[in-house]
Amino acid sequence: TTPIIFDTDPGVDDAQAIALILADPAIEVVGMTTTYGNVPVETATSNALLLTELAGQTVPVAQGAARPLSKTPNPFPTFVHGVNGLGDIDLPSPKTQAVDQTAAQFLVEKTKERPGELTLVAVGPLGNLATALQIDPNIVDRVKQVVIMGGSVKQGGNVTPVAEANIYSDPHAAQRVFNAGWPVVMVGLDVTHKTHLSPDRMARIQAAQGELGRVLGESYGFYADFYRKALGIDGCCPHDSCAVAWLKKPELFKTVRGHLNVVTEGLAQGQTVFAPEEATFAEPRWSQTPLIDVCMDIDGDAVSQWIEDTL
Ligand code: BDR
Ligand code: CA
Repeated sequence: TTPIIFDTDPGVDDAQAIALILADPAIEVVGMTTTYGNVPVETATSNALLLTELAGQTVPVAQGAARPLSKTPNPFPTFVHGVNGLGDIDLPSPKTQAVDQTAAQFLVEKTKERPGELTLVAVGPLGNLATALQIDPNIVDRVKQVVIMGGSVKQGGNVTPVAEANIYSDPHAAQRVFNAGWPVVMVGLDVTHKTHLSPDRMARIQAAQGELGRVLGESYGFYADFYRKALGIDGCCPHDSCAVAWLKKPELFKTVRGHLNVVTEGLAQGQTVFAPEEATFAEPRWSQTPLIDVCMDIDGDAVSQWIEDTL
């Protein structure tokens, strides 16, 4: 099994990914850490707890970042995920509570308990991972892999012409996390925009998942409306599930190794700029940052099929 900590801001597509990691017996969810992003952090925590309860599981949830490290917070994308993060459908309150530790402390402690074993799957703004790095820089040697849903190399952005939402929400945190020296895989819009979860698939998932299925199916309706208007597609991009798919089905992706830097200020704030390993540039700073793996292509149909099969 693959032990992971899932860092998330649920969020409709986060909810789909949470259902996936809890459904797959080959993934051990050691914990979830929450961040503001699609919703305020308290809402993210409440949604993470509720989704875990609906899946009939008990997983520690640690609440984290309430705002970016140093930029003015963006407005919440209520037109994408609703005010409650799950398409403004009726939701019961969770019965369980978050653990008495911040997300960053949780990341530091769990990686001390299981050095070299844990993969961090981060599908929201990256403040929790950046703060963990600040508290304990040695965490880079204790983490097996960091899989990040965020960024875009060739595809352009989804909040600005160049910036993807998770990176735009906290570009300073993202720059630290990409370049900390731990093994990073970026699963960005270059692949998530090529993956569409259709209404038919979601109807079958809803039917198979009981009360959790109702929440996934109804929130999907709201999210898919946004995709119909914004991208003209019939379905939605299951961004955060693609990061989980990378863990389980790496053969469905094509990755390229190189240097990646985040534009932290100005009009292009949040842009992820990539230089492939073999390229040489006059500006030496581009070869000084650590090498990471960036997903450039995906078999989107096979990934959607895998999502359906798993759920
Ligand atoms: C990312 O931004 C959020 O809205 C989604 O949950 C996903 O993590 C896509 O750009
Ligand atoms: Ca997310």
